[in-house]
Amino acid sequence: MIKMRIKLIILLVAVLLSSSTYGKEKSIQKVIKESMKVVEAQTLSMADKLKKKKDQLPRSSRGRTDIITSDSHWWCSGFYPGTLWYLYEYKKKENIRMWAEMYTDRVEQEKFTTDNHDIGFILNCSFGNGYRLTKNPRYVEILTTGARSLSTRFRPVCGCIQSWDLDEQKRADGWQIPVIIDNMMNLELLLWASKQTGDQSFYNIAVSHANTTLKNHFRPDFSSYHVVSYDSISGKADKRFTFQGYSDESAWARGQGWGLYSFTFMYANTGIKRYLEQAKKIASFIIYNPNLPADKIPYWDFNAPDIPKALRDASAGALIASALVQLSEFVDEPLRAEYLKVAETQIRTLSSPVYLAKPGTNGSFILKHSVGFLNKDSEVDAPLTYADYYYVEAMVKYNKLLKKK
Ligand code: GLY
Repeated sequence: MIKMRIKLIILLVAVLLSSSTYGKEKSIQKVIKESMKVVEAQTLSMADKLKKKKDQLPRSSRGRTDIITSDSHWWCSGFYPGTLWYLYEYKKKENIRMWAEMYTDRVEQEKFTTDNHDIGFILNCSFGNGYRLTKNPRYVEILTTGARSLSTRFRPVCGCIQSWDLDEQKRADGWQIPVIIDNMMNLELLLWASKQTGDQSFYNIAVSHANTTLKNHFRPDFSSYHVVSYDSISGKADKRFTFQGYSDESAWARGQGWGLYSFTFMYANTGIKRYLEQAKKIASFIIYNPNLPADKIPYWDFNAPDIPKALRDASAGALIASALVQLSEFVDEPLRAEYLKVAETQIRTLSSPVYLAKPGTNGSFILKHSVGFLNKDSEVDAPLTYADYYYVEAMVKYNKLLKKK
């Protein structure tokens, strides 16, 4: 009888202990630590697989081992070198630095690009992070040449950097000076170049572009249009529409992320308060949106007609997480905690097996389930380098923030 009671007590204690361990959520530090192991495995396996493809950078994948690559002119070429730099920042291992330098060098020729606006994305993620971490003097010339190339696309008539050159079709559709919300992201390179060289013209272009975008790209609810076309004679915004979103009036998820991220860094670099206010309003549109799922990874468009069956976009989730971590540094409680709570949920969701690849799968990319360009059926429900980049950036930045606390 006594033996029986003792057995029962032991069983009860065991059940209590296991249920309390089970019910406890893993700390975010532990989630990040474990996820960064997967990041390291995938990123280094990618580095090894592409080492002989001299001018190629990863772009996406269609399956277990397949890697689709691009040359350096594709707008995403700088993201993979940038992911390597964040991994180096986190791990401080020399072999990672060696890979980061090697893949960064593959995009150098883009410093002369003048036929589109993506120079900022390409050079800032690669050489920009490389310079931030190593102060390699060679990178200064590359970044400032790139900033000069980007500046050639500034159109004083409307006060903006023109995103794309026009082809026959775009002209026929009435496009004149097209500017997409994504273009804001390129301004970080100009702000850096202005600080580095003392040349105020880079700063002036960045502020002019941001002010014009703030005025013309946003709706009263602070969601943004994807494309605004400016009249090349009057300089006025004369057409607003979408290119990658569901419809002209919808809120394409990644576009909302580009807006949030860019107005946050505009404030961080200039101290201009209206940029902070704009970032907070964009954040409110996103985080209180009834169509944002509980796990905080957006559908590819906040107005996709088939919600809740619509595809999720991991790249938008990662981008928003990274932006919210930075924005949290500029606001007081309770907003600060609110932003971090959303970012933390996004990091946890992306670190779950639904999104995070098992090492050795997913073509060596880190995250699954992003949406590139749904209307063109291109890179849909696929891995993408920019999803990986902003996911790793979000974790490294959040980890630093936690350590500071
Ligand atoms: N146009 C860049 C993007 O797909 O977000």
